[in-house]
Amino acid sequence: MRFHGSANVRLCFLLALSLCTSLLLLVGLQQWARQDLLASIPWRSGNATRLRSSLHGQGLAATSAGSSSTRPSPIPTRGPPWHQVAEALRGSQNSLEEKEPPWRERAGVTPEEEAALLLWDTPLHRPGSGKHNVKLSDIFIAVKTTRKYHKARLDLLFQTWISLVQNQTFIFTDGEDKELRAKAGGNMINTNCSAAYTRQALCCKMSVEYDKFIESKKKWFCHFDDDNYVNIRSLVHLLSTYSHTQDVYIGRPSLDHPVEALERVRSGGSTSVKFWFATGGAGFCISRGLALKMSPWASFGNFISTAEKIRLPDDCTIGYIIEGLLEVKMIHSDLFHSHLENLQQLPAPTILKQVTLSYGNSDMKRNVLRVQGPFSQVEDPSRFKSIHCLLYHDVWCPPEDGE
Ligand SMILES: *[C@@H]1O[C@H](CO)[C@@H](O)[C@H](O)[C@H]1NC(C)=O
Ligand SMILES: *[C@@H]1O[C@H](CO)[C@@H](O)[C@H](O)[C@H]1NC(C)=O
Repeated sequence: MRFHGSANVRLCFLLALSLCTSLLLLVGLQQWARQDLLASIPWRSGNATRLRSSLHGQGLAATSAGSSSTRPSPIPTRGPPWHQVAEALRGSQNSLEEKEPPWRERAGVTPEEEAALLLWDTPLHRPGSGKHNVKLSDIFIAVKTTRKYHKARLDLLFQTWISLVQNQTFIFTDGEDKELRAKAGGNMINTNCSAAYTRQALCCKMSVEYDKFIESKKKWFCHFDDDNYVNIRSLVHLLSTYSHTQDVYIGRPSLDHPVEALERVRSGGSTSVKFWFATGGAGFCISRGLALKMSPWASFGNFISTAEKIRLPDDCTIGYIIEGLLEVKMIHSDLFHSHLENLQQLPAPTILKQVTLSYGNSDMKRNVLRVQGPFSQVEDPSRFKSIHCLLYHDVWCPPEDGE
């Protein structure tokens, strides 16, 4: 009897356990499916009219300078066939919204905050979801470019993500350009560095970026390249999980192992040092607290001499100063992406959650994200326009056929 009893108990326990597991699995699957759908909903029929009209008046005006196909347009009443997958969910979202006034109204935001808030008008991210309150104006966004890419690369960025954050975005280039100056004003910084794609020239630009950031008094320094799409929502969301007074250096490691180099700054090359660094092509961010500590090796041109001593490129030198000299660990993030990785492998439902995206378009190989969007491959070879439309469909999408 005793034996039977304990077997029964064991059986009951196993049954209960498997029931729990299946329930958990079901809930998990549902959540996952919902996220997928959310990520793939391109147009939402929400009531963002007020926001939309306020945005047409500013910032986004820059987009209307582009081709007619990129002009902001009213929310389309129907989407291309693939959007219909999300129809059912969109319906349930609407009924939720009808029951409750939009959170924006409940929060009583001022008209001045509206434009910035538009950046949050998505079910995926909300302000204040992190522990720390990060405002757009807290971030110094540096975009590194070169004279010959002002048209070929920067125009696209100004049409898309830069138009939303023009006040805090600074363009670091190497040649004057009246058109760019007209668009960016004082935010275009001619570094007077050489336009050559050499270690010295790149370090020269990074050195100016660093100095301008320190001068700006802003809380976060974020460096990007001119082939990056920056998802501002995700960026602010990510930074708000940290404090700018902490030592924060976050980005994507460019290798799967740390770099080993001769320690030439402290020991004159008699020892070696191992450190990780965030690949510049995917973008990275540094908190003000940490940036200030870098000063002895980074400010007023010291960055160039540090890079010369270790004979490593600009992004690598940043890693050397932070991990090698200051002994602060880099935070590895897979939300940053450069053209050096295989972008076609990034799963479609996660694309809109990344902090940076990129594209590679050499003659040999096309390396672009797999994004089904309203712009064709011909109109939008980088896929940035399609991504921008998916993220800001309330204000920035092409007119529909037949309009
Ligand atoms: C951008 O900066 C200008 C000048 O400082 C200011 O008047 C304007 O309100 C700012 N725009 C936004 C959206 O913050
Ligand atoms: C580049 O040179 C111009 C002209 O001499 C100067 O006004 C500007 O401040 C220089 N840029 C930097 C970053 O030093």
